[in-house]
Amino acid sequence: MKHLIAPSLLSADFMRLQEEVEMINNSDADWLHLDIMDGVFVPNISFGFPVLDALKSVCKKPMDVHLMIVEPQKFIHEVAATGAYMMNVHYEASTHLHRTVTAIKETGMKAAVTLNPHTPVCLLEDIIQDLDMVLLMSVNPGFGGQRFIEHSVEKTARLREMIDRKGLNTLIEIDGGVNLETGKRLIEAGADVLVAGSFVFKSPDPVQTIKDLKAL
Ligand code: DX5
Ligand code: ZN
Repeated sequence: MKHLIAPSLLSADFMRLQEEVEMINNSDADWLHLDIMDGVFVPNISFGFPVLDALKSVCKKPMDVHLMIVEPQKFIHEVAATGAYMMNVHYEASTHLHRTVTAIKETGMKAAVTLNPHTPVCLLEDIIQDLDMVLLMSVNPGFGGQRFIEHSVEKTARLREMIDRKGLNTLIEIDGGVNLETGKRLIEAGADVLVAGSFVFKSPDPVQTIKDLKAL
């Protein structure tokens, strides 16, 4: 499968949000990645459901919603109501992960579990068969523009091995510090979806940058 590109709106110009989303609509981007933070699970606050609801009428790409919040299971119906395609919950924020994943899928959304950089992929052995995607954080979540954690490449390869060994088609998405150089190595290691925030939105020509990431 050709890899997918999911630009992260966190690095967009929020004064020009509609134009930024229209730029994504007219680009080769496959999804739009949306980062929700609560100031508790991560040391930052981004945007919430009113913003997602507003984007819903403009955004033509599937919305990949990444919840960096405690107790994400409380907001499954709010996320579904935004029309989201994929709901990502953090492993570290979910005590009853199987119940949460089941409830996400019951709404019709795809279910993804996100791992912080220190959380090993082996902890997914008994849940991966129920997941549509695993999101590996390649920075500590909370901010755009951080330095890529090198160990993420090896971790991607280990997750690829687990998925292939079990004969699953679970997607692997990587988020944080993705650019043309890290992106290439991540795809070689087995990544299916690359999230890119600052590399896309802070570039002189974001449409071309998305095209370049897609061409890797
Ligand atoms: C970080 C977010 C990312 C962020 C990535 O907590 O989950 O999606 O936007 O930004 P870059 O691509 O700039 O590292
Ligand atoms: Zn994210």
